[in-house]
Amino acid sequence: MSPLRTVSMTARGAAISFALLALAGRASAARAQGAHGGTPWDAPERAAHRSNPVLATDAVVDRGHMLFHQTCELCHGPKGHGDGPMSTSLTPKPADLAADHVQSQTDGALFWKIYSGRGMMPSTQATLSDEQRWAVIDYIRTLAAKRQ
Ligand code: HEC
Repeated sequence: MSPLRTVSMTARGAAISFALLALAGRASAARAQGAHGGTPWDAPERAAHRSNPVLATDAVVDRGHMLFHQTCELCHGPKGHGDGPMSTSLTPKPADLAADHVQSQTDGALFWKIYSGRGMMPSTQATLSDEQRWAVIDYIRTLAAKRQ
């Protein structure tokens, strides 16, 4: 093996071990946070202050319900408790949308999360319009009251 080749392989080896170390560090950080019930997910303040322009009339809530059924229920479950058929295979689990820690967030914060997604929670940037996202939020607000 030529000395040049040895040098370049060593350099590559160092780069690979460095990348692996970085990955291992990230994984253990994620585990540490996971042990405390998932990584905190906060919407930026500006997004959280955005108000919902779509009034929650019966028609809008019905439309939101339909959209929820089509695009969210698989993971979040029929009543939003995070217990849809796909939830068992997901880590972290889909959020319980009827729970206080979700219902206490502003419509703007929920809008930003539903728009952006994170991890297994898909972004709806390409699949829903703004109007549809607000309608889904109007529907999600009705889940708190129905909590059993
Ligand atoms: C493929 C499964 C899946 C689908 C489909 C899905 N979600 Fe999620 N959702 C998740 C998971 C998993 C999380 C938790 C993500 C995290 O904490 O990293 C989540 C988190 C959320 C949160 C954040 C709650 C919090 O903790 O602040 C909201 C809001 C939400 N989902 C709403 C929706 C809505 C509305 C839809 C439909 C438009 C939807 N999700 C579709 C899996 C899904």
